[in-house]
Amino acid sequence: MSIIGQPINRTDGIAKVTGSAAYAADHALPDLAHAVLVTSNIPSGRVSRIDDDAARQVPGVLLVMTHENAPRLPDRTKSGKLQPPIGRVLSLLQYDAVHYNNEPVAVVVADTLEHAREAAARLAIDYETAPALLDFEQAKEKLHPPDKVLSESTDTRRGDLQAGLLSASASIDAYYTTPYANHNPMEPHATIASWEGERLTLHDSTQYIMGVRNIVADTLGIGPENVCVICPYTGGGFGCKGSVWSHVVLAAMAAKLAGRPVKLVLDRNQMFGPVGTRPITEQRLRLGALSDGRLSASSHDTIAYTSVIEDWIEPCGLATRMLYQCANQETTHRLARMNLGTPTFMRAPGEATGTFALEAAMDELAEKLGMDPLQFRLQNYAEQDPGKQLPWSSKSLRQCYEIGAERFGWSRRDPRPRSMQRDGKLIGWGMATATYPTNRSAASAMARMLPDGTAVVRTASQDLGTGTYTVMTQVAADALGLPPERIRFQLGDSSFPAAPVSGGSTTVASVGPAVHAASEALRLKLIGIALADESSPLFGASADQIDAEDGWLFLRADPARREAMGEIVQRHGGHPVQASADAAPGGEKQKYSMHAFGAVFVEVSVDEALGEIRVPRVVGVYGVGRLMNRKTGYSQLMGGIVWGISLALFEEAVMDGRNGRAVNGNLAEYHVPVNADIGSIDVSVVDEDDPHVNPLGAKGIGEIGITGVGAAIANAIRHATGRRVRDLPITLDKLL
Ligand code: MOS
Repeated sequence: MSIIGQPINRTDGIAKVTGSAAYAADHALPDLAHAVLVTSNIPSGRVSRIDDDAARQVPGVLLVMTHENAPRLPDRTKSGKLQPPIGRVLSLLQYDAVHYNNEPVAVVVADTLEHAREAAARLAIDYETAPALLDFEQAKEKLHPPDKVLSESTDTRRGDLQAGLLSASASIDAYYTTPYANHNPMEPHATIASWEGERLTLHDSTQYIMGVRNIVADTLGIGPENVCVICPYTGGGFGCKGSVWSHVVLAAMAAKLAGRPVKLVLDRNQMFGPVGTRPITEQRLRLGALSDGRLSASSHDTIAYTSVIEDWIEPCGLATRMLYQCANQETTHRLARMNLGTPTFMRAPGEATGTFALEAAMDELAEKLGMDPLQFRLQNYAEQDPGKQLPWSSKSLRQCYEIGAERFGWSRRDPRPRSMQRDGKLIGWGMATATYPTNRSAASAMARMLPDGTAVVRTASQDLGTGTYTVMTQVAADALGLPPERIRFQLGDSSFPAAPVSGGSTTVASVGPAVHAASEALRLKLIGIALADESSPLFGASADQIDAEDGWLFLRADPARREAMGEIVQRHGGHPVQASADAAPGGEKQKYSMHAFGAVFVEVSVDEALGEIRVPRVVGVYGVGRLMNRKTGYSQLMGGIVWGISLALFEEAVMDGRNGRAVNGNLAEYHVPVNADIGSIDVSVVDEDDPHVNPLGAKGIGEIGITGVGAAIANAIRHATGRRVRDLPITLDKLL
C-alpha cells in the first residue's frame, strides 16, 4: 500500500511543539538591530513636517528613516516591473503622500526593541490632511471595472438574462454584504534583513520565497541572484503573506542605511492596513427559476472596495459562473476606491464571500418554490462547466450531497421555519454547496541519496502550518521506495529549486509532481548504477525487473537479490547521487474544467432572548481528488470549516468612519472563533480518481472547507428563526 494517503504524523510536529522550529523573527544574527515601523494616523494627505530630535536622543538609536532620507529606488511603475497581485504598490518612503491610515511613514532602528519603540513614540510627525473617502456607500457612487478578475474576465454573459428572468415563475433579487476583514495569522509579518556587501539575506515570514526574492530584487534594482530568502516555517498566512508588502523592502533599506542586520516585526495593529485585507463586498444576486425548480436566470454583480493606490477585486462571481446549470447568466465586478489599505487574497477570496451570497440566494429561491434546498440544487446540477462549456476533470458532488445528507440526518428536517426546538432554543438546519478551483503552477525539485541510506529532497516551497513537509515526505517516500523517516524534506530557501506561491490551494498540485519526478529520477539513477556494477547483486538485470521498497532495490522475481540504496552510494565512491526534475501543467485546462466540490450541512441553535447563535455540529463531505494524508488533510478541511464559521458569525474589522482606522485592530476585539465556539465537525471525503488535474491526482484542500459554510449557517439561522440575514457577520444584534 502506498504511503501516500496514510495518516502519518506531521514530520515537523515535534519541532513545533518543542519550540525548536525557528520562525522568521527567531533567527539570532550577530549585531542584530531592531526596527519599529511608524505608520500614518490620517487616512489621506501628506507628511508636512518631521521632527526627529527627540527620537534621536533616545539611547541606542541607530536610524530614523523617513521620506526625507530614505534611499531613492528605481521607479517600478515606469520600469513595468510591478507584478500585481504579488508585487504590490508599496509605501517605501519615496514621497510624502499618505493614502490610508496606518500606512508606513517611517522606520526607527535601535540597538534594542525597547529603544526603538521609545524613539518611535517620540518621533513627531505633522500632517496636512486631504479629504478622504471612508464611506463605502459614498465610494460606490463612482465605480470602475478592474482589468481582470484574477486571470479571468471581469464580466461574463451567456444567453439572455432578461428573458430568463421574465420566464421565471419564482425569482429573487437581493443584496448580500460581507465586511472588511483581516487575515490575522498567529505569527505577524516579520522580516530580518542583513547585507553582506551587495548580497541581501531575508528571513521573512512568507507564502512565497521566490516571489520575495524576485520582487525585492526588482524593487531595489539589484539582481535576484543577490537576494536569498529563508523561511523554513510560516506561522499561518491566509493570503496576506502571498504578496510582498512594504515592510519587507523597508527592512532591507533600513539594514543598508544602519549598516547592521535589522529585524522588523509588525505589531498586531499594523496587520490592519499595510498587509492587505478582505475588502467589503456588496453582491446583488438575481435568480429566477421555472416551476419545476430549474434555474432560468442568474446574475451576480459584485462591488468591492479597493485602495486609491492599487486595484484588487474580490472575485465573488467566479463560482457562480460554473456551479449550476443555467442558460441565461450575467456576472460583473466593479471597484469603489476608498482611503483604506489595499485588499488582497484572504482565505478563499471570492469563493468564500461569493458562495455566501449565491448559496443564500439559492436557499431563498428554494423556499419560494417550496422545494427542499438540497433537491433544488440537485435539480440544477451542472453535468459540465456551463460557463466554459468544458467537461469536468472529475466531479463527485452528487455523492457529497448524498453522503452528507445521510451523515447529517437531513431527511428528518421539518422545512417550516421555527419548527424545531431543543432545550428552549430554536434549532435550524441549513446546507450549501462548497467549491474551489483546482490550479497548478510549474515547480522544480531535487532529490539526493546519501551513503547512509537517507535522502534529502528539496524545493523552494513553503509550509504555512498546513503539512507541506509531511505530505512531500510521503510523496518522496512513495517514489523512492524509502521509509518516510529516512527522508529529510527541506523547503523555505530560495537557493533550492524554484517553487510557486503557497496560495490558491496549489502547493500539493504544483510541488508534489516535481518532488515525485525528482525522487523517481533518483530511484532510476540508483537502479542504473547498480545494474552496471559487477559487484552489485543486481548486476546484469534490466531496470524494469527492479522494484524499490523500504530502502532496498530488489529483483521482483527473486527478492533475495537485493541491495540497499545507501550501499550503492557507498560503492559509488561515497558521493551522494542526485537527480532533479521540473514539472509543469500542460494543456489540460483547455480540455477540462477542474474544481473540487463538496456539500456542507450545519445545525445552529439560537437563543431568542439573547440572540446568541451556536453551531453545535457541521458535516462536510468533499471530493478533492486523491487525499495525500488523511490526518493532516482532515485537519485542514476542518480548519477551513472553522474559518467558514468565523466568516459567518465573527470576523469584522470595524473602521472608524472619521479616520479610516480599525477600532478593533487587535486580537482581543477582532473576533475569531475559539475552541469553545466550535462544536462537532464531521469531515469526510469521497474516493475520487482524477487523472487530469496533475500526476498525483490531488485537488487542493486549503480553501474549499471555507466555502459554502457562510451560506449554510445563514440558511440554518433562517430555518431556526424565520429571519433572513444577508449581511455578514451574523452577530446577535441582527437577530434581536
Ligand atoms: Mo490563499 S487566500 O490563496 O493564500
